Amino acid sequence: MAKLWQKEYSLDSLMEDFTVSNDYILDQDLVISDVLASIAHARGLNKIKILSDNELNDLEKGLKQIIELKENDNFPITKENEDCHTAIESYLTDKFGDVGKKIHTGRSRNDQVQTALRIWMREFSVKLTLETAKLGKILLDFSETYKNIPMPGRTHMQIAMPSSVGLWASSFAEEFLDEAKRVENFIDILDQSPLGSAASYGVPLALDRAYTAEQMGFKKVQKNVLYSNNSRGKFEAMLLDLCDYIALTCSKLAQDLILFTLPEFGYFSLPKELCTGSSIMPQKKNPDGLELARSRSSVVSSTAFRVKSIIRSLPSGYNRDFQDTKEPLLVGTKATWSLVAIMAKMTEKVEVHEENLVKACVSDLYATDEVLERVKKGENFRDTYKSVGLNLDDVKTYDPYQTIKNRSSIGTTNNLCIDENNEYAKSVINESLNKMTQLKSAYKNLCEKEIEVVNI
Ligand code: ARG
Repeated sequence: MAKLWQKEYSLDSLMEDFTVSNDYILDQDLVISDVLASIAHARGLNKIKILSDNELNDLEKGLKQIIELKENDNFPITKENEDCHTAIESYLTDKFGDVGKKIHTGRSRNDQVQTALRIWMREFSVKLTLETAKLGKILLDFSETYKNIPMPGRTHMQIAMPSSVGLWASSFAEEFLDEAKRVENFIDILDQSPLGSAASYGVPLALDRAYTAEQMGFKKVQKNVLYSNNSRGKFEAMLLDLCDYIALTCSKLAQDLILFTLPEFGYFSLPKELCTGSSIMPQKKNPDGLELARSRSSVVSSTAFRVKSIIRSLPSGYNRDFQDTKEPLLVGTKATWSLVAIMAKMTEKVEVHEENLVKACVSDLYATDEVLERVKKGENFRDTYKSVGLNLDDVKTYDPYQTIKNRSSIGTTNNLCIDENNEYAKSVINESLNKMTQLKSAYKNLCEKEIEVVNI
């Protein structure tokens, strides 16, 4: 079918390749959310009498058929279509005649793509919140299991102070939970409908934007129509920045695991099925998954940067440059998703070697404890620090299990506040499960089916 904007000429084929690029392939991810938004839009047009009840009925029928086709992987979008929006309108016109030509009344592909992306990003963010909080919970459970196992604490990578496996693991748990919470907070911003902003300036029709927003389960309308369009890329970048922080934490966790599973350390190990081999060295058991977690995190970071670079100098209103923010959005979010999944799996499977951890607690680790023992008896800190520093060989051997019991202020080895953190994890997890239920019920109200728009 011809392009939506087709006039009396055909587009130069090189220009078509250049402008469409791979957008029509990427748009497969947006079909379901675009269909949902189209049902809401059609209902809105019916409400203001631009579509009759019968016409609405036909359009809803056709749009639901597209969901079926997509679920069977059978809704092609061709390069000639340019994007899913054209493919959807063409399908409706082919199957239902002239009513298909009415669906685009009062909307532009600019607010259409925004709405589809918004629906996709909103569900992705809910799912990412949930999975990141679950990863936090896995680490909390790990922390609880190993809270009494000593582990050398390091600064500058050197032996520093007594610590525990529990403290190490719950540091990452708290970090992931905070990150999950940040995504949860971001959903509040994301949860506003751009539909009705049209090409960037609204239309002279009495579109009921609040009604269509409510149909799609949005908390509110993104009011200013120009801001609605200008937020393309901006919201993507905000989400990718949050993904970047999650990926960064995954990378740091991966780096710690690479180090601590080295045979020279032997604190932890990973089961064989999570390691890969070498084509030449038969003894090798490599942590490739952890190494790729590090590198994928930089892929995520680059996507956030790419989107911001694309939108930074754009004048107000829609610009075609926006199209190129779609690929980094999909690449960055999907990479984050797989990172969280692989780190959850690895963390669940890490084996802890208590004997090696205790052996690693050498006397240097206790130098500060020694100083503080003497301070408790009345000596001043600085002189005692010097005296212990000059006689390190005399530092007595402490019981590593006892030293971690001796630390009891908030967040230290004997007071990791795991219960409080479990409550935190539970509240973030429940919040995202509730939000997902709300979204699913909005979808069901639109298409009478249990569906999800993000399938990764
Ligand atoms: N594929 C386009 C995009 O992602 C759809 C919008 C096209 N709008 C236009 N005015 N050419 O931005």
